[in-house]
Amino acid sequence: MTSQTDPSITIDLPLTREDPDVVKTEITRGLLGNPKTLPSKLFYDERGSTLFERICELPEYYQTRTEHHLLTKWADEIVGISGAEELVELGSGAATKTRVLLDAMASVDQLRYFVPFDVDETIVRRVSEELVLEYPGLHIHGVVGDFLFHLEHIPEGGKRLVVILGGTIGNLPALAAQGFLSSVNSEMASGDYFLLGVQLITEPRRLEAAYNDSQGITAKFNKNIIRVLNSQFGSHSDAESFDHVARYNEADHRIEMWLRSREDQTLDIQDLGLHIHLKQGEEIRTEISTKYDRSLAEELLAASGFAMVKWYSDPDNLIGLALAKKP
Ligand code: SAH
Ligand code: AVI
Repeated sequence: MTSQTDPSITIDLPLTREDPDVVKTEITRGLLGNPKTLPSKLFYDERGSTLFERICELPEYYQTRTEHHLLTKWADEIVGISGAEELVELGSGAATKTRVLLDAMASVDQLRYFVPFDVDETIVRRVSEELVLEYPGLHIHGVVGDFLFHLEHIPEGGKRLVVILGGTIGNLPALAAQGFLSSVNSEMASGDYFLLGVQLITEPRRLEAAYNDSQGITAKFNKNIIRVLNSQFGSHSDAESFDHVARYNEADHRIEMWLRSREDQTLDIQDLGLHIHLKQGEEIRTEISTKYDRSLAEELLAASGFAMVKWYSDPDNLIGLALAKKP
């Protein structure tokens, strides 16, 4: 099913056609595992996406502004090398930084298609409606899907540049990241380019501050997963019966976000027939955010079938942008 609003916008909704058992199995497996986990894509309903936009503006969350600066500096070169007419963004969110690439494509009259691909329908619709107004003549084919399952919904187009920004790749464990990028590679034509934004390994103190902001926005974002379980899966838990915890795991070079139960309680998730007992102080892991360095990024790309052609990073080595090609 696709839905049409403006004639320049098409929205494809594979997520709404997905067998509901798929996500239910993911949640059940995670909550019955050791440690208990929840899939981080569940943060992102309308409220979660808005909270993430607020995180991007926080003084402690240096990642977004650093990547924005890097893109501003290098977008013309990236667009020139890629020769792309279609930009595909996986995990596009509010696509704020994406405008830098769209501007660079437009300035050399290369901009034809944009494909925002995200699990949150509200943000795909909002971004599509904003961008057709901002870029006259641009065709948008939004995909509301899970990028681990629905990549075949990326439409056929001209020469493509596929991007994953913001360090979203770090939210997947290493093996899943490689499997995902291999699938992305399979969807691309030989000669197409891929741009991967990674967050780089840096001082634990700086990293922990970025996920424990003084305004408590990241805590709200973390707890939003409980609200999503309530609204979409029939549970009735109090998000405030959990504390937000974010700490750096040095061995696995990743931030881990957890929800720590403030009391003995049972998570009753009606639609899943799940009753999960939690002791006071017990934790559920809601997100990993893996940090890379240049060689880890290059290895990941090579193992997924890409050849890295350029590496860009800021003077403080906080963010890396790897431009790669499908040979
Ligand atoms: N690229 C943007 C947003 C990053 S936030 C930026 O750099 O600021 C991560 C985005 O990925 C969110 O919008 C979230 O909804 C989306 N996302 C997370 N898991 C996903 C999945 N499995 N499939 C599709 N989108 C996903
Ligand atoms: C989307 N992703 C790359 C963010 C990150 O930094 O891992 C999500 C986030 N979680 C808490 N703050 C930001």
